[in-house]
Parts: sequence; C-alpha cells; structure tokens
Amino acid sequence: MSAAVELFDLHADGTPPADPLVLAREWLPGDDEPERPQVTLGTVGTDGWPDARTVLLTAFDETGFAFHTSAASRKVAELAALPRASMVVLWPGSTRQLVLRGDVVPDAEESVAAAWASRSDHLRQLAWCNTDELASLPRAERQQRWAAWAAANPAPGQAGSWVGYRLQPRELTFWAGGYDAASRRLQYTRAGGGWRWQHLAG
Ligand SMILES: Cc1cc2nc3c(=O)[nH]c(=O)nc-3n(C[C@H](O)[C@H](O)[C@H](O)COP(=O)(O)O)c2cc1C
Repeated sequence: MSAAVELFDLHADGTPPADPLVLAREWLPGDDEPERPQVTLGTVGTDGWPDARTVLLTAFDETGFAFHTSAASRKVAELAALPRASMVVLWPGSTRQLVLRGDVVPDAEESVAAAWASRSDHLRQLAWCNTDELASLPRAERQQRWAAWAAANPAPGQAGSWVGYRLQPRELTFWAGGYDAASRRLQYTRAGGGWRWQHLAG
C-alpha cells in the first residue's frame, strides 16, 4: 500500500497527519480539475431556522474552502447577518464524507475572477439572467429571453452580482464507511495555532 493511500485510510492504525488539509488534499480534486465537487452548504436563516443548498466547491487551501454565488441570493443575506456556515461533501457510494464548520469571509477578488473564468457558458449566463422575475414567467417566454440574451451576449464579462466566500473551518470531520468494521470518523478541531484530533464513532 502506498503512503498516499494510507493517508486517507481512516481505518488504518497510526497517527493521522497533524494538518487536516493534508487529508483534504488526498480526498478532494485539485482546484484545476474541471469537475467541481457538489457540496451541501448550510447557513443560519435570518428567521433563525437552518438553511441549506447545493453549491460547487470552487477551490480550497489554507485560506478556506471557496464557493461562488449571486450577491442577490438568500445565502448571501444570511451570511451578512451571521458569517458562519457548514459544508458537507458526500462521495459516490456513500463511502466517504467530509463535514466542515466555520467562519465565512469574502473571497479575494482575484479568486472570484478565476472562479468566473472557470465556469461554463451556461453557468455564466445563469449568473447574469437567473432572477426571480425570469423564474415567474411562462416557459416559452423564459426560453425566448434566454436565447435572446445568449445571442446578444456571446462573450459576457463577469456579472456584477458574482461574489465568492471562503469557509474557514474551525472543525473538519472525515468519515469513512466500514465494510469489515464499523464506520469511523476523524475529527480535527482548531487548538491554538494548530489542530487537535480525535477518533469518533461513525
Ligand atoms: C448540483 C448543483 C450545483 C449548484 N451550484 C451552485 C453554485 O455553485 N452557486 C450557487 O449560487 N448556486 C448553485 N446551485 C443552486 C443552489 O443550490 C441554490 O438553489 C441557489 O444558489 C439559491 O440558493 P439560496 O436561495 O439558498 O441562496 C447549485 C445547485 C445544484 C443542484
């Protein structure tokens, strides 16, 4: 078994890496991989009820886990009121899960621009056109407006509503399913300048 495989085998004996980003880098695709992970982003609603939705994990590093969205969206209003969030990444076949909880900060301007550049034409048009007003129209009119906008804007620049955030985790919990034993979690919690870890029941 290679060292790389042992790193993300939560069932293996031995001491896990001191830095959870080492494990996150083993588990998640690199930022340059075009297929982005779909994550469940949890926020606290302005009405006090938990809220959640799927977003793409655009990038991650020691400055946080980045996602990008519309400034007009509910999640942005919620984050303005309380800049804290969770993220859940689930792997196919329910073999692995990663749960993050932490503070949320605005993403750097150049990272927001890089995320825009990496999005497909369809997603860029969504950023420009996907309004509640459009959603309220009859289907034929929505299709007609969509096609007209695409024809008039063959190379749209970055939408003014396009914003990004980074979740800075205070806790990361890696979960691995078990086939010959129980599932198991490895939880990292910020402690001083570093991390404390513990194994938990799955
Ligand atoms: C697979 C998938 C990926 C999505 N990715 C994003 C995304 O990266 N950014 C985004 O703003 N919305 C994304 N959405 C739409 C959100 O789930 C959500 O409907 C939208 O952002 C409005 O959320 P809010 O009203 O809670 O702010 C995605 C939806 C799906 C199903």
